[in-house]
This record gives sequence, C-alpha cells and structure tokens, in this order.
Amino acid sequence: MSGDDRPVFLVGFMGSGKSAVGRALADLRGWAFADLDGIVEASAGRSIEAIFRESGEGTFRTLEWEALSGLSEHRSVVVATGGGTFTGTAHRSLIRKKGRSVWLDVPLEVAAGRVGDGAGRPLWSGGDPLALRIFYERRRAAYALADLRVDASLGGADEIARRVELALSR
Ligand code: S3P
Repeated sequence: MSGDDRPVFLVGFMGSGKSAVGRALADLRGWAFADLDGIVEASAGRSIEAIFRESGEGTFRTLEWEALSGLSEHRSVVVATGGGTFTGTAHRSLIRKKGRSVWLDVPLEVAAGRVGDGAGRPLWSGGDPLALRIFYERRRAAYALADLRVDASLGGADEIARRVELALSR
C-alpha cells in the first residue's frame, strides 16, 4: 500500500454500494470507515428522510457540507458519501482538494435492483422510469469528474473493494 493517507471518498449513484464497499475497503487497508449520511443523521438527530421532509434538501446539503468538512481533515479514513455529495460544486472541490475520489459505477438497472422501492431515499423517483433515467445520466456527468472509476456492477463488496484498492495503488 502506498504511504498516501489522504481520505478516500467513494462517490456514485444511490445503490452503487458505497457503504458496503467502503466498509470492505477500510478493512482491507486497516483504515477507519465513515458513512457521511450516518454522520448527518447522528448530528441532526433525525433520519435523512425526516430532514428532507421537515426542512428540505437545502438544509440536508448544509448538514452534509458540515459533516464533509469535518471528515476531510482526517487521515486514513474511507468515506462513503451520499449520492448527491459529489454533484455539488463546493462539496466536490473540497473532496478533490483533501483526498482521492473513486466513482463506483453501476448501470441504473443494478442500482434500481439494490434500492428497491427507494424507502428512506427521498430523491429516488422510482415511480417514474424516465425521470429516474434523466436524473441518473445527469449525475453520471458529475461522477465522471472523480479521480478514479471502478466498475461496481459485478461481484460482492469484498471483490469490488479489492478492485478499488488495485485502482488506488496504480
Ligand atoms: C442522496 C443520496 C442518499 C442520501 C440522500 C440524498 C442523493 O445517499 O445522501 O438521500 O442526492 O442522491 P445514498 O447514495 O447512500 O442513497
């Protein structure tokens, strides 16, 4: 493993496996793991779904920014971001400045299979396939700005984490 201990941020669409792969990657590296959504929920004392419903997406993005700013100062940590984190200009610049970003790329069909009915994910417009496809394609343009891209469509979390590790060490 290289001596680079800057945080590794996993980015990608809802259902791309950021949390499961992030945990496996942290194990592999002997690093800490942090789930950005989990930190937001803990600091707000509310679920993501409740934050969106009661206070709106703007409030969520501000809380997300605060959690991200704190985490970006840490070393030797793998961070699972939320699906929208890397699509915000300020959030993305911070990630690019403070660490390395890896896009877990999955086809929409794979993401949809994992997300199911979208419970707990306020931005999952699962009921309207066309709207979801447009949303997904727009998001991909932002994820493509990550430092690395890893195909996360096949294999379990451990296998994908090994693929990420390989990409990071190249
Ligand atoms: C979001 C994705 C969610 C969560 C929030 C907003 C998004 O995270 O951060 O509901 O904008 O795509 P996951 O990607 O873990 O579902």
